[in-house]
Formats: sequence, structure tokens, C-alpha cells
Amino acid sequence: AQIQLILRDGSEMTVAGREGENLMKLIRDGGGYELLALCGGGCSCATCHIYVDERFVDALSPITDEEGELLDCSMHRQAHSRLSCQIPFHAGLDGMRIEIAPEE
Ligand code: FES
Repeated sequence: AQIQLILRDGSEMTVAGREGENLMKLIRDGGGYELLALCGGGCSCATCHIYVDERFVDALSPITDEEGELLDCSMHRQAHSRLSCQIPFHAGLDGMRIEIAPEE
């Protein structure tokens, strides 16, 4: 399984998907270090902000209140914004495209 990752400079890379692992971890393990993820997945920093592939929105875990409130603090929130540490990967997300949101 794999994910197509779009970096801030527009370049693309492929990262491996692992069942049950969150997208933030997969992106960083795959070399997407510009996704800072400063809180380490604790849903408190919003530096793991991504734009998800709209074709896959229905296959994602829903946004919790906590995640939604953090996203509201971002200047770059868009319709398909998510915090990547809050989304577990599963086989149904294979082939998804993810864009890293601009730095705050
Ligand atoms: Fe901090 Fe996701 S890593 S909110």
C-alpha cells in the first residue's frame, strides 16, 4: 500500500502505507520531514496539517471536536484539511494523495 505525498515546493514522493499506523508517522517515516508534527501525535500542535484527497474523504476517520478546534486556529484551513496524526491508515486509503499544508 502506498500514499502519494505532495511537498510544499510541489514535488511529489511516495510513502509506504502500514495498516493501523497514523498518516503523520507514515509521512515522516517516508521522509516527509517538512511535516514537523511537533507534539508527536498528541493532537495539540497542528503542525501535522495536511490536505486530503477528496476522493477518500468518506474512508477517513471522522474529525473529532478536538481536531476541529485545532484546525480552526490555522490560517490555512480548507475544506479537506485534517491533522495527519489523527488518521489511521488502512487498506481503503491505498493510493491516496496528500498535500502538506503551508507553514503557519
Ligand atoms: Fe501535533 Fe498532529 S502531530 S497535532
